[in-house]
Amino acid sequence: MIQKPQAMILGTGRAVPARLLTNADLEKIVDTNDQWIVERTGIRQRHVVEPGVPLSELASEAAQKALDDAGVTAEEIDLIVLGTVTGDMKFPATACLVQARIGANRAAAFDLSAACSGFLYCLQVAGALMQTAGYRRVLVIGGEVLTSMIDWEDRDTCVLFGDGAGAVVLGPSEGERGVLASFMKSDGSHSSLLYNPGGGSLHPVSVEMVEQKLHGIRMNGREVFRHAVNSMAGALRQVLEDAEMTVEDLDLIIPHQANLRIIEALAKRFRLPTEKVYVNVDRYGNTSAASIPIALDEARRNGRVGPGALVGMVTFGGGFTWAAAILRL
Ligand code: UT7
Repeated sequence: MIQKPQAMILGTGRAVPARLLTNADLEKIVDTNDQWIVERTGIRQRHVVEPGVPLSELASEAAQKALDDAGVTAEEIDLIVLGTVTGDMKFPATACLVQARIGANRAAAFDLSAACSGFLYCLQVAGALMQTAGYRRVLVIGGEVLTSMIDWEDRDTCVLFGDGAGAVVLGPSEGERGVLASFMKSDGSHSSLLYNPGGGSLHPVSVEMVEQKLHGIRMNGREVFRHAVNSMAGALRQVLEDAEMTVEDLDLIIPHQANLRIIEALAKRFRLPTEKVYVNVDRYGNTSAASIPIALDEARRNGRVGPGALVGMVTFGGGFTWAAAILRL
């Protein structure tokens, strides 16, 4: 049974680095070509940071834009939740560094690790904390500097990822506006199909670790692809059921932007017309936790959706983790 929405979006923002890495650029680095990348992934370019630019810089810019959009000051923020697997440092949490940069002096801040599902996990956790702990103004951020963990000699993975951050400011729901349903799930038995082994307690930083290339992302692409389509379809079905809606009720669906073929397979399962599915993977590549909030901000700012629109969001990532949400803007 659908309950009254608890949290609604007051504003959104995004930040991507100016520097572009095109498929032609990658042809000079590894044995790949534009045709393969476009046909197999839909990606044409990605935004990548200049060396040394940390996640907190992108995340703070996205957060500040979301605050400006919402008309909320940093001092009014009670909580910052940041989804990422590429924080500035192992600790402190990058959410704390964002807090300091934007001056959100009153807030509690923490990071959440759910790979490409990071933003939707954060959205659900933040909504639950607003309901149970009384937070009223919450910054939810998804951001990654994935280029910091790429093995540039591995053509299977280095062509896929980009850097960026997206943010939303949440406040208490007004009327029917807000998060209507959300779902998150994990299956750790598939952790070895998509992971980054180096630099943690399993393989601490060492010359040997780097020589063995454990610092790079490892992925069994075909298996991840198969699981992604099935799990995203199941998650979307679940939130539609929870919100007592059909997919036709939604004005826009924002799927995680990992691969155009995954997005098309999902659209086919739900018989979705192209104009109802948001796609920007061609311009950004896979930005993991940042992909959905970047797309949501774009869709709001380019007029694709406005106040009152119903938006479905769905994602899948390492863990495995997957999640979905339905939101009335
Ligand atoms: O965000 C989290 C979730 N992540 C994902 O959703 C990613 C899911 N997986 C995928 O998107 C796709 O599996 C990939 C894009 C990663 C790979 O596409 P694929 O159609 O599954 O290709 P494949 O891995 O089966 O490789 C096909 C061929 C292989 O050559 P052989 O063995 O057939 O001779 C690869 O070596 O393509 C080759 N290949 C490349 N060729 C040119 C792999 N990467 C490249 C490359 N350029 N960059």
